[in-house]
Amino acid sequence: MQKSKTKAIGILTAGGDCPGLNAAIRSIGKAALGMYDMQVVGISSGFHGLVTNQTRILTDRDFSGILTEGGTILGSSREKPFDKDDDEALSGTKPDLIRENYQKLHLDCLVCIGGNGTQTTAHKLSGMGLNVIGLPKTIDNDLAETDFCFGFFSAVDVCTEAIDRLHTTAHSHSRIMVLETMGHKAGWLALYSGIAGGGDVILIPEIPYEPEIIAEHLIDRARKGKQFSIVVVAEGAKSVKDVDAKKQAKANGRQKNKKGSRPSAGYRVAAEIEKLTGMDTRVTVLGYLQRGGIPSPIDRTLATSLGSEAIKLMAKGAYNRMVCTKKGQVTSVPLEKVAGQTAKVPPDHTFVESARLVGTCFGD
Ligand code: F6P
Repeated sequence: MQKSKTKAIGILTAGGDCPGLNAAIRSIGKAALGMYDMQVVGISSGFHGLVTNQTRILTDRDFSGILTEGGTILGSSREKPFDKDDDEALSGTKPDLIRENYQKLHLDCLVCIGGNGTQTTAHKLSGMGLNVIGLPKTIDNDLAETDFCFGFFSAVDVCTEAIDRLHTTAHSHSRIMVLETMGHKAGWLALYSGIAGGGDVILIPEIPYEPEIIAEHLIDRARKGKQFSIVVVAEGAKSVKDVDAKKQAKANGRQKNKKGSRPSAGYRVAAEIEKLTGMDTRVTVLGYLQRGGIPSPIDRTLATSLGSEAIKLMAKGAYNRMVCTKKGQVTSVPLEKVAGQTAKVPPDHTFVESARLVGTCFGD
């Protein structure tokens, strides 16, 4: 057994689930028990489980056979303990309850596996005196200070397979097939899968589009004998008109549109294409299929390496950091550099440029 400054850890998974969560839990758990003789406490349903003290001691058996399983054995939730507490049944504020339960459980460190919101919460908890370590997971790949988050590559595989399958119908029926991917406010998922699947148009939030430019591109393809096209649309994609309207509304002090009050990005783009080109257009919204199922080999590898880096930090007593990848190496950064940030696609990213060189239209 190796010597460790950390004796007891709590693990939670928060935010949307994604492939690789169990691989990360397994990596942390196996190394904690097998190498450092730490105690491992599993916390149910993200931060909610720490507010309500729903926890259990995890043993070696919990970490067996889960490497390839999707979802999370701990459960997850979108609980944001620092948001205004409206749950009257709970005494004390949620962050205070978290600190109390952390102390009751005699934890030396809390491992927070999650995306942007989770790392921001983890950072706030570190400000309250808790020791925390973050692990970056999200299919959106939009966390700052890491090249990649696990979950992303499995989602890219799903989206790419969807594009491959849509090609057959697009081709057979001479149709425009629009695929809407997730990604929240970032376009990484649409960009990677759009390039991998040979999308003719890729629309991402970072590059506002003009419907007329998309229409021109599709008509031009048809003129060249390509009667079908694949249009990959990130859920956060916006037209130039949308961006201008939002700016105007902000200047006038008006509230932005509530989520769900208008069709999603894929449907908006499809309607614009049909109106401007008259071409037969169909929409597929992949939704939660992108988050489910087994992790890809690269996500398993990434989750395992990030998990073991987390354990090494805890053994040294180096807390309040998020493990990450930079230039192919696994390392870590202070949580304060990650909290509240979003990693978006730089519009001049080399992948955008290479896609443009093979004729992909970004609608600009
Ligand atoms: O952050 C992951 C993600 O899947 C986003 O791509 C998507 O916008 C969001 O979560 C969906 O959230 P929910 O699970 O709350 O519907």
